[in-house]
Amino acid sequence: MKPVKVGLLGLGTVGTGVVRIVEGNQEHLSSQVGSPIIIERIAVKNSEKARDIDVDASKITTDPWEVIRDPEIDVIVEVMGGINGTKEYILEALDRGKHIITANKDLMALYGSEILAKAQEKQCDVFYEASVAGGIPIIRTLIEGFSSDRITKIMGIVNGTTNYILTKMSQEGATYSDALKEAQDLGYAESDPTSDVEGLDAARKMTILGTLGFRTNVELQDVTVKGISGVSKEDIAFAKRLGYEMKLLGIAECKDEEFNISVQPTMIRSGHPIASVNGVFNAVYVYGEAVGETMFYGAGAGAMPTATSIVADLVAVIKNLKLGVNGLKQIIPYKTKKIKSDEN
Ligand code: HSE
Repeated sequence: MKPVKVGLLGLGTVGTGVVRIVEGNQEHLSSQVGSPIIIERIAVKNSEKARDIDVDASKITTDPWEVIRDPEIDVIVEVMGGINGTKEYILEALDRGKHIITANKDLMALYGSEILAKAQEKQCDVFYEASVAGGIPIIRTLIEGFSSDRITKIMGIVNGTTNYILTKMSQEGATYSDALKEAQDLGYAESDPTSDVEGLDAARKMTILGTLGFRTNVELQDVTVKGISGVSKEDIAFAKRLGYEMKLLGIAECKDEEFNISVQPTMIRSGHPIASVNGVFNAVYVYGEAVGETMFYGAGAGAMPTATSIVADLVAVIKNLKLGVNGLKQIIPYKTKKIKSDEN
């Protein structure tokens, strides 16, 4: 069986997790897709950096274009993050007929429709399960699991770093800066954690969830955002005394063809299922007209949970490759709804 060759862009926390799962679970994975999966080339920022996995040095390059242009490579897994360069790499890889898996919420929130349109034109897959809520398979759930229903509300804790910080402040009386430092040391935070603590990371994720859930075109600027940098230990203690927990909550509602999406610190009554989501865990509540209430829970950041979603996407892409049905499952929003706040 001809192996499927993968090019990996990025070998940080998440990239390392991807290598671990692909290499450690090779038999389990190849038995599902009918061929071995080989990580053929890896683009890194710094080839001298000490890493806690063994990678054949001949696979490593500091030039992502070498990976993109390698004719042997069938699938690109992008875990570099950020927008500078990544959009160009992905568009070029699609032009070359390569399938894409990305964990990049910044990119998908801003340029998702352009990237998906290119993928459809080239009959390639772009899968991005790991871009929202780490190990929770919420994207395929919204696309496939709820295709029969009309979703009217999505509510979630979708940033692990801020939930970790708020939990530490609430349960252990930790200071904001100590808790943030721990979240960074554990590999949960973005390289610039401002986007975590100021709510932008959660807003990007809610943009993606709103687009898929409401089957419309949500733009990042449609989301009103407030982060947790202004939340003090005293605010959290005060909320607690009143019987509430403080959470950074994304709330997306859609009614009568209008949607409204926000991210902000929110007091949630203790006892509500979302109030007991602690640490790096995320939860996404989805309400559909027919299904009613559903909720999904799991680790929202970190190497192995995020890599689990990426490698599941890899399995899905390779299955499509084998069936020759790539590009048929792209989600393009089918209409544009009005933003509620436009009328206010
Ligand atoms: N910084 C992000 C978080 C990583 O804390 O949720 C996962 O997207």
